[in-house]
Amino acid sequence: MTSRILITGGCGFIGSNFVRFVLAERPDWEVVNLDKLTYAGRLENLKDVEHDPRYRFVRGDICDPEVVRAAMAGCQLAANFAAETHVDRSLLVAGHFIDTDIKGVLVLLEEARRVGLERFVQISTDEVYGSIGEGSFTEESVLNPRNPYAASKAGGDRLAFAFWATYKVPVVITRASNNYGPYQYPEKLIPLFVTNALRDEPLPLYGDGRNVRDWLHVLDHCRAVLHLLEYGVDGEVYNIAGGNERENISVTREVLRLLGKPESLIRPVADRVGHDRRYSLDAAKLRALGWGPQVPFERGLAETVRWYADNDAWWRPIKDHDGEFRRYYQEQYGGRLS
Ligand code: NAD
Ligand code: TYD
Repeated sequence: MTSRILITGGCGFIGSNFVRFVLAERPDWEVVNLDKLTYAGRLENLKDVEHDPRYRFVRGDICDPEVVRAAMAGCQLAANFAAETHVDRSLLVAGHFIDTDIKGVLVLLEEARRVGLERFVQISTDEVYGSIGEGSFTEESVLNPRNPYAASKAGGDRLAFAFWATYKVPVVITRASNNYGPYQYPEKLIPLFVTNALRDEPLPLYGDGRNVRDWLHVLDHCRAVLHLLEYGVDGEVYNIAGGNERENISVTREVLRLLGKPESLIRPVADRVGHDRRYSLDAAKLRALGWGPQVPFERGLAETVRWYADNDAWWRPIKDHDGEFRRYYQEQYGGRLS
């Protein structure tokens, strides 16, 4: 039988990779993509599938119950990728993080309950656990979000669980580590540094550059979410880890090496306030369910760097002509780099 899935935030980085992945992997599924098209959402990310008869785009806000009702009609499944996602932006203004990452999740859950959805995957994040010095967080670890983005995602994460605990909405919650790959908005570490390096502009490395992130290729993330849509257990949380912990300085050096650019482009700048030192996840629970990452970091990073080098028509208009990006860059880095 045909399944119809609502994918929210499908015009963003991970969402667009997931829409494409689902259409390719599940030929009998229909996809409805509900996206508000914020600064981070781009129709170009899905140009190659926009005419697929199994695909429908709806522009709208997950905080609007009427929009959500229309978009979820006829769906059996949903995966909520829609969110405000950038920590640095949440340190400047946080109100819209609360709206989308908490209130929007509530609207989706209420509608999921009303229509009797068969599976609702809430895409949470490893940042809800906060920072860890040694060892790795399991799904049982205490939540300790330490910035407004992480705190708002923790709100959505726990609301999703509450709808399982109270109303038996069949929710699965995922907490993935840092993603990288094609179509990532050039405000996050890897696409920002690759695109700056391609133009011989400085790479603003926060603090001592020794904060650790665990890098997960976006397609490994997509495989995990599809696996959980089909095999996840109701009410459970699953960590999704790349297993590639690296200090930021090491990722930065590798990007420069791959591009044949000098390390003199690295510019140590004032640290992010409240900067989480290290993220680390134990993904044994998801591995036991049959998933494992397939993309080695060195290959994935080389392919990603190549993608940005080959697709400057995708990122140059954002960096050169998008007034919003330019205002943000100036506010975030102007003082640090001067
Ligand atoms: P992104 O910022 O690239 O894309 C977010 C998308 O959501 C955009 O298309 C935007 O237009 C849309 N959106 C924002 N507010 C909306 C609203 N109110 N209604 C409808 N659409 C709205 O984000 P991403 O990096 O692709 O992240 C996707 C999800 O994965 C988020 O929930 C994020 O918290 C989670 N996550 C991301 C990472 C990562 O490393 N990027 C890691 C773990 C979890
Ligand atoms: P980021 O891509 O913003 O993801 P997150 O904050 O969700 O982990 O940042 C990844 C790491 O890179 C984080 O330790 C902060 C650091 N970073 C910099 O050093 N400079 C930058 O300009 C950015 C955007 C991030």
